[in-house]
Amino acid sequence: MATETDRYVVRAGRASDATELARLQASVQLQAVTGGQPHLGIAAWVEDLLDGHPSVVPDDFLVAEDTATGRAVASLVELRQHWSLAGVRLPVAQIELVGTAPDHRGNRLTERLFASLHRRHAANGTPIQIIEGIPYFYRRLGYDYALANDGAPTVPATALPTTEQDRPDGSSTGLTVRPATVADVDHLADIDRRLANGKALTCPRDAVVWRYEIAGRRDADLARRAVAVLVHGADVRGYLVHSARLSAAGELMVFAAACKESADWLRAAAAMHAHLRHVGRRYEAAAGRPFTAVRHLLDPDHPLARLGPPGIPQRPRGWYARTGDPAGLLARLQPLLRARWHAADLRWHEPTLTIDTYGHAARLEFTDGELTAVTATRGGSPATAPQTHAAIPPGALLQLVLGHRTLPEVLDIWPDCLVRDRLTEHFLATAFPQVPVRAWPRN
Ligand SMILES: CC(C)(COP(=O)(O)OP(=O)(O)OC[C@H]1O[C@@H](n2cnc3c(N)ncnc32)[C@H](O)[C@@H]1OP(=O)(O)O)[C@@H](O)C(=O)NCCC(=O)NCCS
Repeated sequence: MATETDRYVVRAGRASDATELARLQASVQLQAVTGGQPHLGIAAWVEDLLDGHPSVVPDDFLVAEDTATGRAVASLVELRQHWSLAGVRLPVAQIELVGTAPDHRGNRLTERLFASLHRRHAANGTPIQIIEGIPYFYRRLGYDYALANDGAPTVPATALPTTEQDRPDGSSTGLTVRPATVADVDHLADIDRRLANGKALTCPRDAVVWRYEIAGRRDADLARRAVAVLVHGADVRGYLVHSARLSAAGELMVFAAACKESADWLRAAAAMHAHLRHVGRRYEAAAGRPFTAVRHLLDPDHPLARLGPPGIPQRPRGWYARTGDPAGLLARLQPLLRARWHAADLRWHEPTLTIDTYGHAARLEFTDGELTAVTATRGGSPATAPQTHAAIPPGALLQLVLGHRTLPEVLDIWPDCLVRDRLTEHFLATAFPQVPVRAWPRN
């Protein structure tokens, strides 16, 4: 006899699912906004994701199918991307569009879809999953709030500068902002390459992805953004990415902003805010509702926020992150760890340093004080095992690795984060400094 769980199979998506998944997701996402009507922006996004999106193939969808009807009744999609952590490439899977048809809720289909996704990532070595979504819900699936790329103040529309006020000598000051075209994509990719080699956590786009952001999406796609470039004559010196329409609250969202040369930022911030004012007014006229503010989805330390007009402080919303392979993650970071210890003139005095993550452990191997390898071992009883130098729960390790929290902060918050002695504490604190987040995830 079929049990309730037999009723569903989880399978990979197919290109032929496009219409059905678009209908399913449009009928479950953002229903408070549409008043229960299908969300056309969601439908267009799903269609784009299954129609040549540069970060997704149909297989990246996971679908729960009702075996009685053959219909897709729940699904999610992962967008595969590479982030850069201070120059080290990290494969990241961003999960989006998690939804279950109302008639099929209560069967833990999300749990089953995530179990399948995590098995897939364990097999293909994807060390990090991220998702933004329902408060607390994803903690139940092993996720932790270990990343935030927002929290910058919101600038009221009335506080935005006009171009003329901030640049009294007009175009002779040099920097202006104009909408990007596909002719700019190589310059945009070049800026991202440079940023990826800096100190921040970034999500670099190559020319193909920039082309897609500028000209690849359906107009109605909820994830479509407007890309503008900062120029000095014909020279592309930076970019600004903002929403393609006003939010229900009349806000214009800023998702990313970058300058090739950091010395440009003071003038760039004025030029970008003047551009946002201009765009906001244009959107206001088209939408027939007031343009109220610029909402920076940027970290508070971002130069655009720091050097722009003062605004209303915001609390960061936070992203969930998860790793199923803490030792694998540390192994990927070897060059960065080596460079950080080297810069601080630190050498480890034993052949190994063992970090136990309560289940798995990572053994860091040293030759003449320099890190030479990271291997995975079975975790022991970290609180008592003599060979263990530190015991760090996987969620706390992710906070450290992503530079979200420093070791003193983690030690303060997590009683089950244990460090053997002051030397180990100093060594690990140097390995994991706070990192600026400049990541505009692909969606
Ligand atoms: C969120 C959603 C995908 C969960 O569907 P599901 O996998 O079928 O989940 P179930 O109904 O089996 O519920 C599993 C558990 O999660 C809880 N849960 C379900 N939806 C929840 C929500 N929106 N917020 C908080 N908890 C929720 C349930 O109460 C249940 O808890 P229990 O174990 O204590 O009984 C579904 O409600 C949905 O499609 N919602 C609309 C779209 C949405 O919000 N997607 C998430 C975007 S981040």
